[in-house]
Amino acid sequence: MRIKIAAGNWKMNTTLEEGRRLINAITEGLLNNPSPLSPNELQVVFGVPFITLESAVDMTKEHKQIKIAAQNCCSEEKGAFTGEVSAAMIRSTGAQCVIIGHSERREYFNESHAMLAKKVDVALKNNLIPIFCCGEKLEIRHKNDHFDLVKKQIEESLFHLNPDLFAHVVIAYEPVWAIGTGVTATPQQAQEMHNVIRNFINKRYGNSISNSTTILYGGSVNAGNAGELFSQPDVDGGLIGGASLKADEFLKIIHSF
Ligand code: PGA
Repeated sequence: MRIKIAAGNWKMNTTLEEGRRLINAITEGLLNNPSPLSPNELQVVFGVPFITLESAVDMTKEHKQIKIAAQNCCSEEKGAFTGEVSAAMIRSTGAQCVIIGHSERREYFNESHAMLAKKVDVALKNNLIPIFCCGEKLEIRHKNDHFDLVKKQIEESLFHLNPDLFAHVVIAYEPVWAIGTGVTATPQQAQEMHNVIRNFINKRYGNSISNSTTILYGGSVNAGNAGELFSQPDVDGGLIGGASLKADEFLKIIHSF
């Protein structure tokens, strides 16, 4: 069975103090009312700002179900890249994952397929699990090009990996039109795309890897819609933005599996 994941993407929100309070509230909530799923079945990920990584790792280290993620890493290993944060630096905090290729990074920071392939490589080299985001804008869906675009995003940035490395990757399908808009993909739309992605992985890497790849849905997931989305056969959880900043809401999402 592939692992399910509820991952929060805090984006550029929370000071250190606010972040600590949020982590406290969610971990307390989970201790008081644990998920019926074991840590081998369900992982909870906090995608926190860089400044919060070390505290987040420290505050959750006893909690086997929780992993900490950065939201980006530099495509280069080290050196004269003022202001950037390397995969090795992230790993040195104890964080285990990194979100790569979020649509906001593609859009506002011009991240290309080739650059994202380098980020994936440097993350894996440093033992970080890449949570690789893909997804189409509304005009692409209207042209019915959404399946081809998402396949291209995956092919160009992930399919150079050998099977052993690819097996560590988590994919997050996030239609851009659903991110932060309150408009969620219907469970059928999410399932349809996730199935296309899984079949595409199957063609490249075979059954065993495609069946064990975790594919998350992201885009306006909340406590009200998570249950139905996560019950789709190819939807293995969510990457959650706005709703991950509210402890009660995020806890309900964790309990929707
Ligand atoms: P949202 O963001 O849940 O606020 O739509 C999701 C994301 O950007 O990962």
